[in-house]
Amino acid sequence: MWSFFKNNHKEKIDINANIDLERIPKHIAIIMDGNGRWAKERRLPRTMGHRQGVIAIKRIVKECSQLGVKYLTLYAFSTENWKRSQEEVSALMNLLVEFLISEINELHKNGVVVNSIGNISGLPEKCQEQLKASFERTKNNKGLVLNLALNYGGRDEIVNAVKKLVTKVDAGELTEEDINEDVLSRLMYTGGMPDPDLIIRPSGEQRLSNFLLWQCAYSEFWYSNIKWPDFSVEDLHNAIYDFQNRDRRFGAVK
Ligand code: FPP
Repeated sequence: MWSFFKNNHKEKIDINANIDLERIPKHIAIIMDGNGRWAKERRLPRTMGHRQGVIAIKRIVKECSQLGVKYLTLYAFSTENWKRSQEEVSALMNLLVEFLISEINELHKNGVVVNSIGNISGLPEKCQEQLKASFERTKNNKGLVLNLALNYGGRDEIVNAVKKLVTKVDAGELTEEDINEDVLSRLMYTGGMPDPDLIIRPSGEQRLSNFLLWQCAYSEFWYSNIKWPDFSVEDLHNAIYDFQNRDRRFGAVK
């Protein structure tokens, strides 16, 4: 079905053999880092790194969908990214619109549900329109949920959830005794989704950068020096393979 990338799966046969297809992580989240450095190394403008990053998005979405990952959350624009130059911000917004317009048929055909986390009302109108059209078109699909983190910040998300909580308490819908982790989880942008099992950060940095702060309590982290535009299907397989060999105890003793 997928035709994003033809003949790009030479390596898949061998590497997939190492992955237990019965234990694919349900939710993978990725901090798509290194686009700027990728471009700099090639003496290209930073925006070319982002453009190449979109190509990586396409191959990783396709592979996650084929592997049966249920949720893929991509950190595409943080609440802090507004501090970048006007030119770069605007290039990123244009890439988002371009991506949604050019890929929506393919995504829809393959059962992908397009979703977002973050405060999208802060995005330019054209992005909001394209996002809403994509949500509407794909909302009844049953495949991979592609969660685009846009104007997203983990702290902002927690503040936002607390505000919703206070509103509910004020309205008498909840009392102090009702408040617990589940209630707060449901008020996050990710409400109703499982926490990420695996968080991937390419490009050599080993920090969270305000990503999924509430949800990452028991996520497994996977870092690599590869820059996001170069992130391959093989890298994804390696991350999943490593994940499958971790001993997840969730604080308990086996
Ligand atoms: C981080 O690399 C990357 C971003 C802030 C933007 C990620 C966005 C895309 C890949 C494309 C747009 C999104 C969609 C959904 C179409 P960086 O620029 O911080 O890299 P650097 O650390 O090397 O400078």
